[in-house]
Amino acid sequence: MTKIRIAVQKSGRLNEDSLRILKDCGISIDNGKDQLKATSRNFPLEVFYLRNGDIPQYLRDGVVDIAIIGENVLIEKGKDISIAERLGFSKCRVSLAVPKNETYNSIKDFEGKKIATSYPNTVKGYLASKGVTADLHIINGSVEIAPNIGLAYGICDIVSSGSTLFKNNLKEVEVMLKSEAVLAVSPTISEERKELLKKIQFRIKSVLQARQ
Ligand code: PRP
Ligand code: MG
Repeated sequence: MTKIRIAVQKSGRLNEDSLRILKDCGISIDNGKDQLKATSRNFPLEVFYLRNGDIPQYLRDGVVDIAIIGENVLIEKGKDISIAERLGFSKCRVSLAVPKNETYNSIKDFEGKKIATSYPNTVKGYLASKGVTADLHIINGSVEIAPNIGLAYGICDIVSSGSTLFKNNLKEVEVMLKSEAVLAVSPTISEERKELLKKIQFRIKSVLQARQ
C-alpha cells in the first residue's frame, strides 16, 4: 500500500506540537526515541525525523511528500515550496536586535555593520528592500551571544517569548517577518499521495477548528 511520507523536526521546539497535531488527527505513531523513521499503525503514513534546515531540500527532492515546518525556514530556503495549511502553532518573529544600551534610530543604523544570523537570505532580502548593506556573519545557533563577545553589532534570529534576547541584554528593533508552523508540500508529490494529503488536510482543518 502506498504511504505518504511526512517530515517533522527531529528535536526542538516544533517536534512536540507536530506530533501532537498528528495525534489529534487520529494518526498514531509508534515513537521509538532514537528512530529516525516511524510508521503509523492506523493511517498509511511514514514519519521522518529530520533537521529543520534540511527539510526544504528533502521536499524538493521528493524524498518526503509533506512536512510540518516553520514558515520562516521556507522563507529562508524554500521559496519554491508551497504551503497547504497554516497550523497556528509555533508562532514566532524573525527579528533584528541590538544591545539594549545602543541608541537605535532606524534600519540605516545597520549600514556597514556586522550582523550575526542563521537566516542570511531573509536578512539580505530585508536589508536590500531598505537600501541598506551590512556584513553578514553566518552562525548556526546561539546567535544572541555574538554582540556580547564582540563578533557583531547586531543579530537576526527567531524571537518567540523574547527571553533569549532579554537574557543576552539585547532589544528587538525590527520585525522582519512573522511565522508559524505550516504544512508544506513537495512539488513532486504523486497523484496517489495527493489523495492521502487531502484526507490529512481534512482532519487538520477540523482539529484546528476545534482548537479555536
Ligand atoms: C531559538 C532561537 C532563539 C530562541 C527564541 O533558539 O534561535 O534563540 O529560540 O526563543 P525565545 O524568544 O522564546 O527565547 P534555540 O533555543 O532553539 O537554540 P539554537 O539557537 O541554539 O538553535
Ligand atoms: Mg537560539
